This record gives sequence, structure tokens and C-alpha cells, in this order.
Amino acid sequence: MKTKSEQLIYTVYDHAGELNPEDAALLTLAREATTTSYAPYSRYHVGAAVKLANGVLIKGSNQENISFPAGLCAERVAIFAAMASFPEETVEVVAISATADDFEVDEPVPPCGICRQAMLEYEMKSGKTIRLILGGQKGKVFIIEGVRQLLPLAFM
Ligand code: THU
Repeated sequence: MKTKSEQLIYTVYDHAGELNPEDAALLTLAREATTTSYAPYSRYHVGAAVKLANGVLIKGSNQENISFPAGLCAERVAIFAAMASFPEETVEVVAISATADDFEVDEPVPPCGICRQAMLEYEMKSGKTIRLILGGQKGKVFIIEGVRQLLPLAFM
């Protein structure tokens, strides 16, 4: 018998101004995408921006439904749209942000478990890790190299 552990390594920036210009631009796109969210039920508006290896940038936002499970998270809206348009491309970076109607989102927004699994699929498909940029409307920003880090013992 042995005990094992897995480590999450990520970089913490005090604010978006500390990011390199490309990462900062993608986070800005994710923040912009929150404005296209349809979230009358949760009143929580998530935006995601995907950067493909060919340089194309694609935005997505959460789309809710009166039949709650029919809704979809911003990350999957963005990544599925990207892959549907460019099926042979590699996803390089995904930025995520959010706003809320009733409070300020000043913490980095991490992807939900299903979105982690969905993004991991494209890491497996391409054999390349996806860089994640997580930010709120302001405040700290986390950068995580590889979705796999966020899903230990993933189903694969
Ligand atoms: N949501 C996302 O868009 N991404 C996540 O990773 C977590 C949650 C959405 C789903 C729902 O529309 C709202 O945020 C509240 O959970």
C-alpha cells in the first residue's frame, strides 16, 4: 500500500495589468463575452475566450434555459464553437471571467468539473496542454498550464 499525491502548480498575478499583452487581451475578450451571457436564472454571467493555434479567437458565454440542465457553460459554448469551425486546429489558451448581477466577481473564476472534462478531451486529441487564464472583473488572475492539472484521476 502506498499514499500518493498530485500537485497543482499555477501562477498568481495581482491584477490583469501584470499579464503579458497576449494573455491580457484574451482575458479582456472573456470579460467582454460576459455581456452576451443569457443567465436570467442564476444572474451569473460567464465569458470565455479561446485562442487557437492558427491565431483565431472565439468567444462564448453561458446560455441558460428554463429547463435548467439544457443550459450550457461559457467554456463549452466557446470551445465547441471553436472546434466545430476549426476541427483540425489545436486549442492553445482559454480565458474565463464572470460578472454577477448581485455581487462583484473579484476572484478568479475556475471552470466547473464538466468543463474541465470537456476541455481535457481536446488536450488528449491534440496532445498539447491548454493554458488557462482565470480572472474576475478585477483582482487576481491565475494562470494554469494544462487542464489535466485541474482534473486528477480524470476519466480517460
Ligand atoms: N457556469 C459557466 O458558464 N461556467 C462554469 O465553469 C461554471 C458555471 C455557468 C452555468 C450557469 O449558467 C451559471 O454559470 C451559474 O452556475
